Formats: sequence, C-alpha cells, structure tokens
Amino acid sequence: ALRRAANIHWQHIEVDKVARARIKGRSPRCIWFTGLSGAGKSTIANLVEKRLHALGLHTYILDGDNVRHGLNKDLGFTDEDRVENIRRVAEVAKLMTDAGLIVLVSFISPFRSERRLARGLFDDGEFIEVFVDTPLELAESRDAKGLYAKARAGRIPNFTGIDSPYEVPENAEIVLDTCSASPEALAERVVQRLLDR
Ligand code: PPS
Repeated sequence: ALRRAANIHWQHIEVDKVARARIKGRSPRCIWFTGLSGAGKSTIANLVEKRLHALGLHTYILDGDNVRHGLNKDLGFTDEDRVENIRRVAEVAKLMTDAGLIVLVSFISPFRSERRLARGLFDDGEFIEVFVDTPLELAESRDAKGLYAKARAGRIPNFTGIDSPYEVPENAEIVLDTCSASPEALAERVVQRLLDR
C-alpha cells in the first residue's frame, strides 16, 4: 500500500506551461504508444522521434524496458505492478509535457483503466493514443527477444497475451495496422498527425 503524505498543499508556480511552450514555439504533446510485447511500439516510437528531432523539435522517449531499469525497477508484471508502472510513467510524461516537450511513451500499458487515467492527466488534444495493432500470432512468430517461447514454456509468468490480458483500445486517436505497412510508413502517419495540428 502507498503511504500517503498529509498536510501537502499545491504550490503555485508563476511560469506556466503556456509560457514554457511559447519558448518552444509549439504546444507540447504526449504520444502514447500501446500494444503487445513485440508489436513494434519501440521501433515506431524511435522512427517518429528521429523525424521530429530532425525537424528541430524537443522530444523524449519513455520506454518500458528502460524505465524498468531505473525509476520502476521495483516493479514486476503482476496486474498491481503494471498499474503502478503506468501510473508513474503517466505522471512523468505529464511533468515532461508541462516542461514543454513532445513525449513519446512506449509501454504495453495493457489496461484500459490506466490508459484512461493517463489521458485524464492531460489537457484536451494533448494526449494522442497510438494503438500499435499487431496480432498476437504475428508478435509471437517474430519473437525478437525470445520471450514468447519462454512464456509458452511456463518460464515467464503473467506474460501479456499468454496468461495476462491485453485490453484493445477503443478510442485511440491513431491505429497502426502493422500487417499492412512498414514501420517507416506507420511512423510517418504519426508524424503527419502531429504536424497537422
Ligand atoms: S506494462 O504492461 O506496460 O507494465 O509493461 P512494460 O513496462 O511496457 O514492459 C514490457 C517489457 O517487459 C518485458 N517483459 C514482459 N512483457 C510482458 N509481460 C511480461 N510478463 C514480461 N516480462 C518481461 C518485455 O520485453 C516487454 O518489452 P516490449 O518492448 O513491450 O516487448
């Protein structure tokens, strides 16, 4: 259980998000990639970031595998730990968008309720949910990290898609069908969507 602090008051800060965004000349965004392990989230997020970076935009990627080495290294893959994992990452993404950045979040984030909580932290239009839609059979057949084989062999408990659920997004701003286009083409769709606004 979380220990809750008492007697905490919100501290008003004079330089606000709008003021910080003015320096960047563009509104911050949180681009939230969700999908199965091996769906291609990190690959596509990286391609999007490279394009945005080349355009001179200030970006940052929060990636599950990386954040779990540091901030969230105390968390595993039970439902409870995934909920806490996503809660913390959503709060970090919010701080980063507050700072004026374009944040790319790449986590399985399997539960609708946590994605809804994440979305709720952001202003209207600031949060862009991107469903990296790769069927389990395809992710499993690629098995780039060999994790599906291990999970099928019973050596990784609570593996998403095997014995832990993935709840398909119902209101994602962007759905990327990875069976029908290259990662480069899919990344370009995300970039265009971002530049359109
Ligand atoms: S979650 O569900 O959002 O909390 O997961 P996330 O923080 O994105 O971490 C997913 C990466 O951890 C590796 N891994 C597992 N994934 C799913 N289930 C289990 N049990 C598991 N154990 C380890 C895996 O490499 C995931 O990376 P990606 O990039 O998604 O394949």
